[in-house]
Amino acid sequence: MTKQATVTILAIETSCDETAAAVIQNGSTILSNVVYSQMKSHQRFGGVVPEIASRHHVENVTLVLEAALDESGCSWDQIDAIAVTEGPGLVGALLIGIQAAKALAFIHKKPLIGVHHIAGHIYANRLEDELEYPLLSLVVSGGHTELIYMEGPGQFEKLGETRDDAAGEAFDKVARLLKLPYPGGPHIDRLAQKGKVTYKFPKALADEDTYDFSFSGVKSAVMNVVHNAQQRGETIVPEDIARSFQQSVVDVLIERTMKAVKQYKVNQVVVAGGVAANRGLRQALEEAFRDLETPLAIPPLKYCTDNAAMIGAAAYEYYVAGQFRSLDMNAQPGLRLVSV
Ligand code: KG4
Ligand code: ZN
Repeated sequence: MTKQATVTILAIETSCDETAAAVIQNGSTILSNVVYSQMKSHQRFGGVVPEIASRHHVENVTLVLEAALDESGCSWDQIDAIAVTEGPGLVGALLIGIQAAKALAFIHKKPLIGVHHIAGHIYANRLEDELEYPLLSLVVSGGHTELIYMEGPGQFEKLGETRDDAAGEAFDKVARLLKLPYPGGPHIDRLAQKGKVTYKFPKALADEDTYDFSFSGVKSAVMNVVHNAQQRGETIVPEDIARSFQQSVVDVLIERTMKAVKQYKVNQVVVAGGVAANRGLRQALEEAFRDLETPLAIPPLKYCTDNAAMIGAAAYEYYVAGQFRSLDMNAQPGLRLVSV
């Protein structure tokens, strides 16, 4: 494909509980970025209810798309491709975005791009900074905890991943235990700011020669402390539990990341996913990188959680590589991250 001066992509994200659309130029310039969060509808259930998520996506996807196109000031002639999250995610939720993308691609005769959700989270970093390859990405979201090495644009090599719960999932489960609203990550973050490390929770796989993670042990340890205290009629200090739990998760994330930085000669480390919003993690990462030559990039909070701008940013790589999909593209809830 000959290199175009500008590539304008309309991107859609509906993999979980955000209905989002954005118009992104050359993988980095945001012309519009509209996110409709369904969080309030799921809160009373203590987690995302897939059926409800799908229904909200159906109701909102057209409105969100219209708003994104309007705000961008682009006409359909100026849109070069339609991109959508293909997976991983909730199958019913993914399907709504994919169906909308396919309909628009068909009607307006535009190429269709299927984007991996995690590629999107990583590329959220390009909405603020240039990416410097080779790079290392620490992906910490509600569904994923991974260390990804990228030799060049669109090249993804997984170094390690969680063997059980994702970091965000562990935050959400501990929050639920402390009777905090869903999603619990931000509440644990808030409480941890006021607490002290008074409990020694386990740091799983800390001594093993691996880049894998495991968070179910620390979650169970928190559970034991809370239940034991309840049985004995003792009061717990939620702030201290939150701080101690957060510290043990953050310590492991930092330890693995620093080990990978040492082993792989990277020019940048980028953090991705909703847990990248965590203040304890951001602070610990900044401290760990203060005296290193390798630059660290953490996206602003609004790009850490699910949005379509990040999908449009990643989609640019698929566009440049000429990697387009036919109209029989389907939702892939367990999609693996492969190189573009
Ligand atoms: O990336 P994301 O929006 O969705 C997935 O693709 O999974 O991440 C959502 C996750 C949730 O588990 C949420 O609790 C967590 O990110 N999260 C946080 C914070 N903000 C969001 N976890 C810890 N501290 C935060 N400040
Ligand atoms: Zn996500």
